[in-house]
Amino acid sequence: MEKSLKEKVLTTLKNDRRFKHLPDKLQDILIKEVSNIYKPMNSDSIEHPNLYDDYYQEFYHSITIGPLEEAYNKFVNPSLELLKEKSVLNVLDIGAGMFVNSSVLAEEFLKQNKKINIVSVDKKIPPFVKLNHPSDRIRYLFYKSGFSFRDKHINWRLFVMDARKIRFENYFDLILHDGFSPYKNPSLWSLDFLYVLSKSLRQGGIWVSYTSNKSVECSLRFLGFKIDFIKGVGRKRPSIRAIKSAEFFNIFGAKDPYFIPMRDKDLNHSEESIISDYFLRVYFLKAKYHSPSKD
Ligand SMILES: C[S@@+](CC[C@H](N)C(=O)[O-])C[C@H]1O[C@@H](n2cnc3c(N)ncnc32)[C@H](O)[C@@H]1O
Repeated sequence: MEKSLKEKVLTTLKNDRRFKHLPDKLQDILIKEVSNIYKPMNSDSIEHPNLYDDYYQEFYHSITIGPLEEAYNKFVNPSLELLKEKSVLNVLDIGAGMFVNSSVLAEEFLKQNKKINIVSVDKKIPPFVKLNHPSDRIRYLFYKSGFSFRDKHINWRLFVMDARKIRFENYFDLILHDGFSPYKNPSLWSLDFLYVLSKSLRQGGIWVSYTSNKSVECSLRFLGFKIDFIKGVGRKRPSIRAIKSAEFFNIFGAKDPYFIPMRDKDLNHSEESIISDYFLRVYFLKAKYHSPSKD
């Protein structure tokens, strides 16, 4: 039987020679912190249609607000607010999943009689899930077309592949970035992958996601994105909206050890090696600068 992601991460972490150089107390705290990331999700109170991924042990959409509210609040409204003037929109949909974000965006954009081009990317395609929303229609047509759909107003294609392999240059107005959570699915949140995405975005283009993860914020700032935070629904955390600009942000002034990028230098490392490497670097910073017995 394949090992779980949690087992793989803990084994990778303990086998890394850097681990043994951490003080014993920090080794214990690190193992606890990382183990906590992989606690199974409690799905007793699910009210909205959703899907569960067994490997990442995570739902595709927020179990509290559900897929539609999540799509509107985190992805569609924050994007369209800044893209009102556009008559043609080029969109990259990373972690396309059930295609909720992209179909709701298309539905809202097409209402204004405009034109939208969407490139969706995912490593696997889940079954069609009905949400009883007007965007079901376009999503259903997309499934029925074999995931390549075109008419006067929309051109929508799917690439089934590891998103890390995509290469576009200066083309998209908007990126909908929706991987599983950054610590479980770091292959989609490393500095190196965000660099590939920033190259695919035109100057002034927008990147939106649901996360406020510090490492992701750090990488985006490092790449020169201007960041603002979208207020979360209820008591939910805010999410990052980033605009591609030519600014340079000095991340070295940041004092938080978690505020460092996740690295995937050759864009082919496993989830467990990316996340173990990240946490080891975080804990070395803690050992050096946060320990009461620092030299
Ligand atoms: C949270 S779900 C996306 C939900 C989706 N945006 C929607 O609207 O239904 C995360 C998706 O990321 C995909 N994913 C994770 N790692 C990936 C990778 N390296 N390349 C491509 N897709 C990936 C998963 O297969 C999954 O479909």
